[in-house]
Amino acid sequence: MNQSHVLRFLCDQDALAENTNRRFWLDKLPVLLCLHQGEFIAFVDQCPHQMKSLEGGVMRANKLYCPVHGASFELPHGRHLSPPACRGLLPMTVIKKDGKVFVEVKTE
Ligand code: FES
Repeated sequence: MNQSHVLRFLCDQDALAENTNRRFWLDKLPVLLCLHQGEFIAFVDQCPHQMKSLEGGVMRANKLYCPVHGASFELPHGRHLSPPACRGLLPMTVIKKDGKVFVEVKTE
């Protein structure tokens, strides 16, 4: 089976304030877009603990905290740092182009 990637539009670059994040839906795929230290970072928006959204999670000192039970993940890669989650987030590639933010999504 061949896989390729397509760019999917999320928002304009000025849509997020520094140290905020927002959930987007790409068909049935939830995407969390974060703006932290001037960088856009995206993950599949499912906390590995109970598959809840991370939207609204505090971002501080290169960490993202799950707003539900407080698991923490390293930014920008999403590596797991503390329980109750036991693994990291699934990162997505972010592309900025012409003032807009896109993510790469796999196709089959
Ligand atoms: S759902 Fe994220 S820590 Fe529980």
